[in-house]
Amino acid sequence: MMPPPARDLTVLGIETSCDETAAAVVRREQAGGGTVLSDIVLSQVEDHAAFGGVVPEIAARAHVAALDGVVRAAMREAEADWHNLDAVAVTAGPGLIGGLLAGLMTARAVSAARGLRLMPLNHLEGHALTATLTDKLAFPYLLLLVSGGHSQLVAVEGVGRYRRLGTTVDDALGEAFDKCAKLLGLGFPGGPQVERAAARGDATRFALPRPLAGTPGSDFSFSGLKTALRQEAEGIAPLSDQDVADLAASFQAAAADAVVDRCRAALRAFDETIGKPPTALVAAGGVAANQTIRARLDALCREASVPFAVPPPHLCTDNAVMIAWAGAERLAADLAPDPALPARARWPLDETAAAIVGGGAKGAKA
Ligand code: KG4
Ligand code: ZN
Repeated sequence: MMPPPARDLTVLGIETSCDETAAAVVRREQAGGGTVLSDIVLSQVEDHAAFGGVVPEIAARAHVAALDGVVRAAMREAEADWHNLDAVAVTAGPGLIGGLLAGLMTARAVSAARGLRLMPLNHLEGHALTATLTDKLAFPYLLLLVSGGHSQLVAVEGVGRYRRLGTTVDDALGEAFDKCAKLLGLGFPGGPQVERAAARGDATRFALPRPLAGTPGSDFSFSGLKTALRQEAEGIAPLSDQDVADLAASFQAAAADAVVDRCRAALRAFDETIGKPPTALVAAGGVAANQTIRARLDALCREASVPFAVPPPHLCTDNAVMIAWAGAERLAADLAPDPALPARARWPLDETAAAIVGGGAKGAKA
């Protein structure tokens, strides 16, 4: 790998792959650490709430309307000059294609107008590299990415070196939480509502399945859990408040068990596949905000004597800091992508891993 350039790098990042319009400016010091100079995230949650999920056309239109202002705000807050930037990094996939195109067009226009290098990046790489910024982690580490669009276990060996150890064969975990919330008449996004309801529930009342638990490999499956929940709910309908709480708690406990089982398997497989133990288990994505799941992962890591790292919540969910940072890391490693890369709805981080078919409610899973 090339030695890092002998100077600091400043990168503008743009993220529009789902329902957050985000821009950020990050500086990467020559020695390797980074500073977040600005971090603007405009959530569209209210635009989609009435539909119980993200509506792609509404998302794309909202990105187009908001993006110029969000980019300007990120530059202003960072007190950054265009001529001091080293690159514009932008999410080119995976995600909802309309939003991706809006981000890529804006980034392309900015790069042409200001003579800046354009870096179309994989959104998942942003999630994968965040811990090198927030926790200064060394490679290799194990990333658990659980959000509305993704459920993956990835060995992060270095910049541009990602090995997928497991992925979902059906729903993403956040998507399963959202569907559980919808079924129980709770609001959108569902994860926080399910967690709140679960806090007053009895997690042992319903015996829900732990999909794939104990099986070889590190893949996830959540659609059987969702079906079992529906059957239990239909069996006792109409639901009282206590029924809803008990169902939510039972669902959350099953989801947490399933995640812990898959992470345990991936930790075991890591040494064998990568050749050395991970420096940490990193949890990211919206579901990593769930306190029950975090506590269970923390306990697993103690048991396995592996450090557990969770970036702060606003850098676990979708944001542009992670895109700017991934751009800076790639520049420093002399791994700048082809500026002509197109937007892609599907774009696996590990190009060697087999494709898993299926589209999530919030976009591509793989
Ligand atoms: O990473 P994120 O903000 O957006 C993407 O999907 O990329 O993740 C959102 C997902 C939603 O499905 C939401 O229901 C879930 O994360 N989520 C949670 C919690 N907070 C958010 N799931 C379980 N417990 C939570 N506390
Ligand atoms: Zn994401």
